[in-house]
Amino acid sequence: MSVSLVTGAMLLAVLTPTTTPVTTTTTTATATTTAAATELTSTTAVPSARVVQEAAPGCDLTSANARKGDLVWGFKKSFRQYVGVGLPGATGNSITATNGATITALDEVLRDGVPNPAGIPTGAYRFTFDSADYTSPTQFTARYRGTVAFSYPTHFFTLLLSDPWVTTANGTATLHADIELKATPGAPTQPSNQPDVALARLTPPAAAPTNGLLTWPDIPATLTTAEAFGGFYQAGATLDPLTLTLAADCATVPTAPPTANPVVAPVAATTENLIPIARFRPAPDLASTGVDAEHSLWAGVVLLLAGLALVLAAYRPHRT
Ligand code: HEM
Repeated sequence: MSVSLVTGAMLLAVLTPTTTPVTTTTTTATATTTAAATELTSTTAVPSARVVQEAAPGCDLTSANARKGDLVWGFKKSFRQYVGVGLPGATGNSITATNGATITALDEVLRDGVPNPAGIPTGAYRFTFDSADYTSPTQFTARYRGTVAFSYPTHFFTLLLSDPWVTTANGTATLHADIELKATPGAPTQPSNQPDVALARLTPPAAAPTNGLLTWPDIPATLTTAEAFGGFYQAGATLDPLTLTLAADCATVPTAPPTANPVVAPVAATTENLIPIARFRPAPDLASTGVDAEHSLWAGVVLLLAGLALVLAAYRPHRT
């Protein structure tokens, strides 16, 4: 008797539908692709030179009209590779440019002919013009604007390179910039902040302005401070050559180099459960137990009632 009741209740319980979703495992990208996967590289061919538009005749560069130009500099390609590609086990690395700086497609780190497969843009940087104090092609100061942030969380640092400026006089030239090394606990060096530090010695060319445009192409640069990079580079280390332009407001300046185009970074293959997490899954495809919910409920009710009927029938007094 009571067996019937219990059986009905059990059947109801068993057949009551469950919509609990199947537990899913989210697959995460590894190596250096994780945080910076949205900020990616170009797969297009890298142009080797910038396009110089038609010159503006009759335009002279003077102290009063030096108001245009830019600085294209990759800082140090091996560092772009160290952060952008990362050593094995690196996660969350990024290189970003803001406040007037852009990451170009020039001189990117290539792997098998393809820009950095880790997905982080590794091209040289373009800093936009800020201001200039121009006396002559051999005596001037040109300031540029922008910040590039190199972040390597598993090596406990973020390095900020900001607002570079070049000054030349008496046959020498120096590149200055703000360098800030942010170091988190575990870093092998202390954090440091060096605004306007003399960063590199440059070899000034014998260049004269043409139609209001002064160009210093591919100028060799060597590091003059070891402190700026936590001692990881020694003074005298070779940095990337830089190209600067300084121009009168009436001059025609070269077009900006192309910026690195985003591409989707490859995600590591995995043998884990690849079912996407529930919020990305189309609603009708919610993991199913294979049982129709509404019909199962009614079937359970009917069985329960049947069980009750059997119980009542069993207890009905018999007429003698
Ligand atoms: C404040 C923290 C750190 C800073 C500023 C820093 C900076 C640097 C720099 C500037 C380089 C030279 C990159 C190049 O041009 O080739 C370098 C290389 C290297 N760093 Fe760090 N690093 C830091 C922390 C670490 C930590 C914690 C590790 C180890 C867990 C590490 C391991 C290495 C290795 C192995 C290289 C050589 C890479 C190569 O030659 O390919 N670094 N680091």
